[in-house]
Amino acid sequence: MSLKNMLCKHFLKTTQGFSRNILKYYQIINNGSIKEVRNIGIRKVHTTEKSPRILITGGLGQLGTECAKLLRKHYGNENVILSDIIKPTEESLSNGPFIFADILDFKGLQKIVVNYRIDWLIHFSALLSAVGEQNVPLAVRVNIEGMHNVIELAKQYKLRIFIPSTIGAFGPDSPRNPTPNVTIQRPRTIYGVSKVHAELLGEYYHHRFGLDFRCLRFPGVISSDPPGGGTTDYAVAVFHEGLLTQKYECYLEPYTRLPMMYIEDCLSALFQFLNTPKELLQRRVYNVTAMSFTPEELFEELKKHVPNLKISYKPDGRQYIAESWPQVFDDSEARRDWGWKHKYNLEKLVESMIHDVRKNSSSKRSMKEVNSYV
Ligand SMILES: NC(=O)c1ccc[n+]([C@@H]2O[C@H](COP(=O)([O-])OP(=O)(O)OC[C@H]3O[C@@H](n4cnc5c(N)ncnc54)[C@H](O)[C@@H]3O)[C@@H](O)[C@H]2O)c1
Repeated sequence: MSLKNMLCKHFLKTTQGFSRNILKYYQIINNGSIKEVRNIGIRKVHTTEKSPRILITGGLGQLGTECAKLLRKHYGNENVILSDIIKPTEESLSNGPFIFADILDFKGLQKIVVNYRIDWLIHFSALLSAVGEQNVPLAVRVNIEGMHNVIELAKQYKLRIFIPSTIGAFGPDSPRNPTPNVTIQRPRTIYGVSKVHAELLGEYYHHRFGLDFRCLRFPGVISSDPPGGGTTDYAVAVFHEGLLTQKYECYLEPYTRLPMMYIEDCLSALFQFLNTPKELLQRRVYNVTAMSFTPEELFEELKKHVPNLKISYKPDGRQYIAESWPQVFDDSEARRDWGWKHKYNLEKLVESMIHDVRKNSSSKRSMKEVNSYV
């Protein structure tokens, strides 16, 4: 069957139940190739078919809570189950189900998948780059053994599984400006090594067992929620500390360029990618990004709003990590295949973060921890 016919059949079959919002932005053009018509962005999905039931692991981290909010808006509160091994706040309990789930406990996860009749698994549990370097054996367990558990479960129960990867999956041998989708990957952190492992195992399970594995390599994600111990955390911390005390000590050198993205773009990419018909995916792992900047460039933009902001620099071990990572991320394949398009540039990011942090200033304590590495 030609690709064109296959897609027509798929579209007809799914028009009833699948989001019309997504389908209508793709058209099949005459020569049988697919053209993305418009970025689908985030809009409400109206389905006549049942919504997927989704389990989010590591859901109380920087990305999980916001991700749950977005998915609950589209699929209903009860259909998105947030899980973690840490204690939830009142707020994270208020919008939908939360359960304890340790990704190192295969049987426990199996029970959840069966009891909640899970269809999709979003696997966020991980030890991030800086934290991973401080406890390599634990990072191996959580990032590698834990990932083995969830991928095996996804295979057994035929789940769609999303596992994020990172710019940290590249290393000093990779081209850094720009870093293409497929290139040398020889990371020098346990975090990066575990993410390359996840990418490869996921692709292998896809080819070998037909697993619907999907993976986006995110750059540094910037949101008002406390970050989890990554190398790009300064770009969150400066908003909290800068707005509170008008000063900030940065652990990276002023010239350290890294790819970044605002949380709304990150979740928009995730949502759009999760809902892309599989026929449009030329690969299972895509780079996505929105911008690249140095600490100095970010602080200059922030100073437009906080003119008295005083910045000092005291590089630590994270400088070595950052120097082996991409400076500019090439996400042209995601833009071509499934219409990825970011909304936030540096200027909009800074405006939004100031607004978010002023609204949500409860994370001061955790921000101190960001700067207390080594
Ligand atoms: N935040 C970013 O900038 C960024 C960038 C690229 C990729 N990612 C990826 O996105 C995912 C989520 O990142 P995040 O920033 O929210 O991380 P985070 O550190 O804020 O959250 C990770 C969560 O995993 C949980 N966890 C740890 N061990 C666990 C276990 N044994 N069982 C269950 N949960 C466990 C932690 O309690 C924590 O809540 C990670 O896989 C990360 O690699 C994040």
